[in-house]
Amino acid sequence: MEKSSHKHSRGLWNTRLGFVLAASGSAVGLGNIWKFPYIVGQNGGGAFVLVYILCTIAVGLPIMLAEFTIGRKTSLNPVGAFQSLKPDTHWVKIGYMGVVAGFFILSFYGVVGGWTLAYVVKSFTHTIISFSSSKEAGHFFGSFISNTWEVLFYHALFMGICVGIVLRGIQGGIEKACKVLMPTLVIILIILMFRSLTLPGAMEGVEFYLKPDFSKIGPKTILIALGQAFFSLSLGMGCMLTYGSYLSERENLASATVYVVVFDTMIALLVGMVIFPAVFAMGLQPTEGPSLVFSVLPTVFSDMPFGNLVSIIFFALLAIAAITSGISLLEVVVAYFIDQRKWSRKKAVLITSATIFTFGIPSGFSFGVLSEVKLFDMNFFDHVDNIASNYLLPLGGMLTAIFVGWVWGTKSAEEEIEKYEKKFHWRYTWGLLIRYITPVAVFLVFCAKFF
Ligand code: TRP
Repeated sequence: MEKSSHKHSRGLWNTRLGFVLAASGSAVGLGNIWKFPYIVGQNGGGAFVLVYILCTIAVGLPIMLAEFTIGRKTSLNPVGAFQSLKPDTHWVKIGYMGVVAGFFILSFYGVVGGWTLAYVVKSFTHTIISFSSSKEAGHFFGSFISNTWEVLFYHALFMGICVGIVLRGIQGGIEKACKVLMPTLVIILIILMFRSLTLPGAMEGVEFYLKPDFSKIGPKTILIALGQAFFSLSLGMGCMLTYGSYLSERENLASATVYVVVFDTMIALLVGMVIFPAVFAMGLQPTEGPSLVFSVLPTVFSDMPFGNLVSIIFFALLAIAAITSGISLLEVVVAYFIDQRKWSRKKAVLITSATIFTFGIPSGFSFGVLSEVKLFDMNFFDHVDNIASNYLLPLGGMLTAIFVGWVWGTKSAEEEIEKYEKKFHWRYTWGLLIRYITPVAVFLVFCAKFF
């Protein structure tokens, strides 16, 4: 009784679909639309895609289910959750690490989110579809991200939108926004895919994307694929744990996990079907790197019938995806202050977002006024990204798997998973994955950072 009133006072998802859409909203973001295509482009196309899918199933799926389970069991933020399952042990540090990682990731994610908003606006004013070469578009992109005031303005705008949604809480804010934004995103992507596939010369791109060339796969590619699976599925910092904590007890955790993983992967695959046919149809290179979306695509749009409209739609899509992920990052930090420090939601949202924004300012300036400030050849943005994505996330994911597999125990976890639904069909497989395969695989990614 006490537990259920505690649940209600923190907020709950209204419907199963709302929960799945919100968790998918967290997963689908810049990782799918901005990062996935350029990583596929740099790592040989089709074969990499297959390895990525394998990593998603062997590592992503089990960890996501573990996070959802801890979240629903405890109805708490990451710190409170580990604390309540194993009180007064070092395991609570996984929770603290998660909150810190959320803080770090949002600080630079907000900057890139700001860029996407800027490109929506610039599509309206036609400035970004007037390029004759991707070099010109790249130059434009470079001068935009070095413009102090513009970057600051759009960064603040992005954070402001996230604040507006998270202030409204779970049902009225996050769930409502994702219920509208996620289906919109799917519709826009499908329209874009048709546009892209009907361009003359598109088939070459389809071939690059779908035809695996296994000679391009090495240990390093596998590690990159695993890291990408982590980031794309929002794992390793208690983000899915926090979303799980707002679940009512009825939800079937195992099938919700499958929905979210399949959805996130489908979106990444769809994005590839939009980008590669277009890039090849325009005679451009898929190996362009991080600027693929921001400088190659505007060139593609410049040369395309209805390019202006397509550009507006595409960057709106990118901004939507970034917003539904940004709110999930903010929610982790906010939930910590609400549960553990007993702050009101309003106080927690306003204070944490202002702090995260301020901490993100040097990341925003890392391509302009601070571009010369480097340590070990990396600017501020790179360092924050590196610490969070390459260290805190894998470490958090591996420790979460070890915690559930060996400390809290798969038995207790399975009890929670089967509490309302009696059929957890892949119970045995999951136990095997979370105890052995997942921690070892993540350990390898982690070690690879040191070689
Ligand atoms: N998954 C999101 C993306 O693909 C980013 C994200 C949101 C994230 N929450 C996270 C990444 C938690 C790691 C951890 O863009």
